[in-house]
Amino acid sequence: MEKKRDVQWYPGHMAKAIRQIREQLKLVDLVIEVLDARIPRSSGNPEMDGIAQGKLRLIVLAKSDLSCPDVTRQWIKSYEHAGICAVAVDARSKKDIQTVVSRIMQLAEEKKERDARRGIRFRPVRALVAGIPNVGKSTLINSLSSRAVAKTGNKPGVTKGQQWIKSKRGYELLDTPGLLWPKFSDPIVGEHLAMIGTMPDDLELMPAQEMAEHIIRYGLEAWPETLSEQYGIVPTMNVQEMLDAVAQSIHAVKSGGDPDHDKAARVLIDRFRKGQLGKVSLEECE
Ligand code: G4P
Repeated sequence: MEKKRDVQWYPGHMAKAIRQIREQLKLVDLVIEVLDARIPRSSGNPEMDGIAQGKLRLIVLAKSDLSCPDVTRQWIKSYEHAGICAVAVDARSKKDIQTVVSRIMQLAEEKKERDARRGIRFRPVRALVAGIPNVGKSTLINSLSSRAVAKTGNKPGVTKGQQWIKSKRGYELLDTPGLLWPKFSDPIVGEHLAMIGTMPDDLELMPAQEMAEHIIRYGLEAWPETLSEQYGIVPTMNVQEMLDAVAQSIHAVKSGGDPDHDKAARVLIDRFRKGQLGKVSLEECE
C-alpha cells in the first residue's frame, strides 16, 4: 500500500501560517511557543528560531502529564542551556498555569529593566501563544485568560475579532493563537505526529495497524508489564500475534470470526494517546 506521508498541501499551509504569524509577531514582545511534551522536536517548527528573533521567548511543554518526567526535565534543561526560558505543564491545571504566569512575569521584569536602561517608558508585555495544531494553545490561552481582568477591544493593527486579554499581573495576551505547521523534513516527524494524534487521522499519515505496531514496539521498552498484563503481549510474538492478542482482550472479532486487527489497532492507539498505557516520550533530548 502506498503511504501518504508526503502530504503535499503542507508547504502552502506552512507558508501562509508563517506569513500570518509574522504579522501577529509585529504586535508582541513575547512569543509563548507551545510544544507537545511527548514530541518536543516534531511538534516544533525549526523556523521559529528565525521568526522569533529579537522577541522574548518562552517554551511551554504542554501535555507533560502524559510524558516521562525525566525526559521532559532533560528537554527543559536543554532549552534553558540554550538561553530559552521553558516550563513543562498540564495546560488544564491551575497550579501549572501559575508557573507559566511566574515565568511570563520574570521575562516581563527583564524587559522592564532593559527598557528603563534605554529610557523607554514602561508598558505591559504583550504576548502571543503559538504552535502547531492540537498542542494545547487554546487550552493555555483559556487557562491564562481565566485570570484576566478584562478583554480589550480591537486595536489598530489587530485583525478584526482579535482581542487583547489583560491579566491582573499586567501583561497582555493576544486571544487568537499563532498557528504554525510542523516541518516534515524527516519521516520520523510524520510518524511521531501521527502516533500522538497531533494531525487528524484522516490525513492517513500512517495506517492504523502500522501505528499500532510502532506503539507496541515502543511499549515493549517503556511499559512491558502493561502490555503483558493487559493484552498478554510478549516480545517474542510477531506483529500479527500481538494484534491477535489485543483483539482477543477487547473482544474485537470480525463477522467471520477472525480477530479484528483494525479495531484492535484503533483501540490501542486511542489508549496510547490518552496515556492509559503509560507515560510516553517518543523523543529524547540529544
Ligand atoms: P490547540 O489550540 O493547540 O489546537 O489545542 P487545544 O488547546 O484545543 O487542545 C487539544 C486537546 O488537547 C484538547 O483535548 C485539550 O483538552 C487537550 N489538552 C490541552 N492541553 C493539555 C495538557 O496539558 N494535558 C492533556 N492531557 N491534555 C491537554 P480534546 O480531547 O481535543 O478536547 P477536550 O474535550 O479535552 O476539550
